[in-house]
Amino acid sequence: MANSGNHLMVAALDFGTTYSGYSFSLRDEFVKDPLKIQANPVWKAGSRQFMSMKTPTCLLLDDKREFVAFGYDAENQWADLLLDEEHEEYYYFERFKMNLHNNKNITSGMMLEDITGTKRLTAFDVFKLSIQYLVNHLLDLLKTRGNLVRHHEVQWVLTVPAIWTDRAKKFMRSCAEAAGIPTDNLILALEPETASIFCQYLSTEKLKGSQSGFTMPSEGTEYMVVDLGGGTADITVHRKSANGQLKEKHRAMGNNCGGTSIDKRFLELFEEIVGETTMSSLKKESPLAYLDLVREFESQKRTVETGTRIKLTMSIPVVALDEKCQKVHKKDFKTLLECSPHSKDIKLAHDKIRINVEFFKKLFTPSIDGVISLMREIFRNKSLKEVKHVLMVGGFSECQLMQSAVRKAFPDQRIIIPEEAGLSVLKGAVLFGHKPDYIQSRVMRCSYGVKTNVAWNEKKYDRKHYVVMEGEERCDNIFSLIVGKDESVEAGMLVKKSFFTPYKHQDKMEINVYVSEETTPGYVDDDRCFLLCTPIITFSDTCEERRWVDVEFVLGNTEIDLKAHDRNSGEAISAKFNLI
Ligand SMILES: Nc1ncnc2c1ncn2[C@@H]1O[C@H](COP(=O)(O)OP(=O)(O)OP(=O)(O)O)[C@@H](O)[C@H]1O
Ligand SMILES: [Mg+2]
Repeated sequence: MANSGNHLMVAALDFGTTYSGYSFSLRDEFVKDPLKIQANPVWKAGSRQFMSMKTPTCLLLDDKREFVAFGYDAENQWADLLLDEEHEEYYYFERFKMNLHNNKNITSGMMLEDITGTKRLTAFDVFKLSIQYLVNHLLDLLKTRGNLVRHHEVQWVLTVPAIWTDRAKKFMRSCAEAAGIPTDNLILALEPETASIFCQYLSTEKLKGSQSGFTMPSEGTEYMVVDLGGGTADITVHRKSANGQLKEKHRAMGNNCGGTSIDKRFLELFEEIVGETTMSSLKKESPLAYLDLVREFESQKRTVETGTRIKLTMSIPVVALDEKCQKVHKKDFKTLLECSPHSKDIKLAHDKIRINVEFFKKLFTPSIDGVISLMREIFRNKSLKEVKHVLMVGGFSECQLMQSAVRKAFPDQRIIIPEEAGLSVLKGAVLFGHKPDYIQSRVMRCSYGVKTNVAWNEKKYDRKHYVVMEGEERCDNIFSLIVGKDESVEAGMLVKKSFFTPYKHQDKMEINVYVSEETTPGYVDDDRCFLLCTPIITFSDTCEERRWVDVEFVLGNTEIDLKAHDRNSGEAISAKFNLI
């Protein structure tokens, strides 16, 4: 891992599913006051005069696939293009980060569809151009302030969900490198970790829900970190150790129950009323109306509280909806609504709908339940008996319904929500950049191993793996463990494995690295086992004799890595994880 000690500045990019931003601080400032974290002071939301430290994750490109705008700018320009009906040639992408979540087929050539579903571009370019915009915006801001730092003087940090696969993380790294961040100046940070680090620096008053006198950094404090973003729920457990660092006590677990899962349910509700075909023609043919509907839902979603309000009012694009409903069903929206199973809970009044709040709240239920059941699953672990605090971070943690459901489900836990819960990942990422060793150890999310073969033993091994190699009976496809799932690993721990070249004059050697969801995997072709990658070890010369290579896997950091040495000469050999 790159050491941040020599860098003048740390700059962090928080690339979120719904919102993204950057923040930075000079080393000198960090030493004096760690919370003196700077960010773009205003991402202006156009006419809405709404300001925030993050801007929507959306990208607008022209017909030549050249960058036009990102964030609120892109959102506003896209809306204008739609109004003027000049959008046909443009590419508009939003909320595309979730394409990397739980995706087993991430490749550099993977394609993304733009919002209209008619145009495609590689995910690599979409991510690269977005990251490039944030990087350039930050450097420009520094320039206007007279701060002319050079790339190599900056420790760059890019946040990723802890629950992502190694391949998804590596994909993000490659995009950031292609966007101009030098490889050695970039570290990936895990989102719940940076939020947890940020909260270490907050006083009790800024930690809503904590009792007086409580601060996160008391030695031995154990707490669950629940990072609820737009896309993912990302949960882990931390313990403050005596030396001031944090130890992960439970592997990060998560799912896709972030804030956008509610948006998805809202759109499904509309599909239940007017049908899928109507909704998709609204999206394609009246994209502005569709956009308005989605934006209106986003703002209504934030107003729902646990209070006593009975109904809420929502503007809907009724003209466009009517037109599509007539086209597909020969009926207007009102008629379809009245015939739908939701007629009791939703009423149309002019260009608005009145929705029963209790009904509206049901849109939240599966996401809230998804988060709570995951928390319960983690709490069932006996080693977490001492955990008495839950730290809720991420934008979706600001949702009152979510907060009160978590309080109700875990009455014995103290639920702590920091001020600016939605910014804690972004701000914490800067702190992580200054102190990448803040997390002392991590718990492995899966088992890693290499494929090997061993002497045959009829009693021990499955017949289907029996092979004869050079006259010897062997068992093939053995998963030789590098590290097991749920094992606690010090950051940067090395695990050595030795390999030899079976053939003369071999100029390179391939190692098959596998991951498994089992704690003690048996064979590499078992169901829950996957080939992670095939690192290639390239020799600078060739030889007749069998050559032994010592490979050290670097574990417990935010990314897995490996180093290789020739056993005889001790020389380092080039070896790379070719995940993408
Ligand atoms: N008061 C609120 N009530 C309900 N939902 C909210 C509220 N405030 C924010 N959200 C939701 O939180 C999400 C944004 O959170 P955040 O900015 O942490 O996500 P992100 O960083 O974009 O996503 P991720 O970290 O999963 O990639 C959005 O889905 C938003 O609708
Ligand atoms: Mg986030």
